Amino acid sequence: MNTPDLKKARIRTKEKVKHIDANIVRSNAFNGKKYYIKTYGCQMNEHDSELIKNLLEGIGFLSVDSIEEADLVILNTCAIRENAHDKVFGFLGRCKHEKEKNNPNMIIAVCGCMAQEPSVCEEIQNKHKYIDLVFGTHNMHNLPTYLLNKMDKTDFEVESKEGEVIENLSYTRDSNISAWVNIMYGCDKFCTYCIVPYTRGKQRSRRSEKILEEIKELKKEGYKEITLLGQNVNAYGKDLEDELSFAELLEEAAKTNIDRIRFVTSHPWDFTDEMIDVIAKYDNIMPYIHLPLQSGSDNILKKMGRRYTKEEYLTLFNKLKTKIKGASITTDIIVGFPGETTEDFNETLDVVDKCKYDGAFTFIYSPRIGTPAAVMTNQIDEEEKRNRLHTLNEKINKYSLESNKKYLGKTVKVLINGHSDKGDNMYSGYTDSMKLVNVKSNKDIIGQIVDVKITDAKSFSLDGEL
Ligand code: SAH
Ligand code: SF4
Ligand code: F3S
Repeated sequence: MNTPDLKKARIRTKEKVKHIDANIVRSNAFNGKKYYIKTYGCQMNEHDSELIKNLLEGIGFLSVDSIEEADLVILNTCAIRENAHDKVFGFLGRCKHEKEKNNPNMIIAVCGCMAQEPSVCEEIQNKHKYIDLVFGTHNMHNLPTYLLNKMDKTDFEVESKEGEVIENLSYTRDSNISAWVNIMYGCDKFCTYCIVPYTRGKQRSRRSEKILEEIKELKKEGYKEITLLGQNVNAYGKDLEDELSFAELLEEAAKTNIDRIRFVTSHPWDFTDEMIDVIAKYDNIMPYIHLPLQSGSDNILKKMGRRYTKEEYLTLFNKLKTKIKGASITTDIIVGFPGETTEDFNETLDVVDKCKYDGAFTFIYSPRIGTPAAVMTNQIDEEEKRNRLHTLNEKINKYSLESNKKYLGKTVKVLINGHSDKGDNMYSGYTDSMKLVNVKSNKDIIGQIVDVKITDAKSFSLDGEL
């Protein structure tokens, strides 16, 4: 039994991070048993679920698509905003019902970022005793061991620590076309609104040789695209001695000649000119950058602990646009941070007017227990936050439609990743600038990079023909 502790999760020491080869337990103990996994949150969690699937299949489990068929249900959760919490407990209610009505032996497990929150573990302990296992983000690779142990009451296996880098992991990937590749874990930025540094631990980079080995292996297996993953990929390597910088890693990755490389997420603070030059130089590095703004007001940026000003952000943005041909840039914006005045919000709108983003994820500020912003004075009224979000979204949608319209009549390369729900013989995929394209084809083109002429542009997608 191990429960999380936010005070411990906050600690950052100078001690070297250990890189460990995991000793993964494989057996046939659960042969014929079935699992169902539901994933919330970011790409990190999507990729973690690919690890969990591999671990489960390694002890005999088979995957199913509904909780009614499952002997084991796992919820891989996200803690970034309050609404994620409500969704998870709503779904758990369904699992509880199924367990009590039809399947008393069903194992219900909760993992991911919510498991790292003490308040969530307390809630489970007090009110959700039907949950069998809660495990955290630092010890996922031990899941087989937890399942092989007998669980009489809820087994909490959550560690709050800086964390290690675990190697020797295998993944059951969701796609055989594009793959996630972790380059770093955790975050040390401690933006004052954000829970991630507490749920994921210290920023720790993988060794570049392991990353490049993985990319070469993926290329050999026929993958067309890889996405380098980290909360702050531009800070890659800074925590290790004798390691490549992100620019150098990106260049080495490009030299593997895999068709497409992209990376998320970039923090404006760590973006260097070398990185921009490498992105501009290699055709297989996608000209797509997700560059979170969060706010356009210097006053709010300071309170958020973002370490850049509006002016610095705009300078970087313009440099990216000038140096990288056809660069498409998306962003994240939070409205209603504590103390955000109408003037502050207008500064954000001003940046949106200047940057005319290709797209944006916009969020209402959600107080997270344990973070500094949650106890700041002048929390903004819910209705006001909703109004600001609405105003912002109208602007964002206008510009994303504008940017999509620029593609009309052009021929672009699209990596087709599956069938589109737009009808028979319809396929969909992404341009190298991450624009979603729907296209008709009489033969199967999944997994191919095809030339598509764009015939129609909407706010969130393009239509085209081969
Ligand atoms: N590492 C990335 C962001 C990861 S979280 C970065 O630094 O850009 C994804 C997005 O969720 C953030 O960019 C932010 O816009 C949003 N977010 C994080 N904490 C939030 C909170 N407490 N309330 C609302 N949105 C939040
Ligand atoms: Fe959160 Fe900031 Fe780290 Fe991004 S950089 S994960 S917003 S603390
Ligand atoms: Fe959510 Fe954790 Fe990702 S809080 S956004 S799943 S790092």
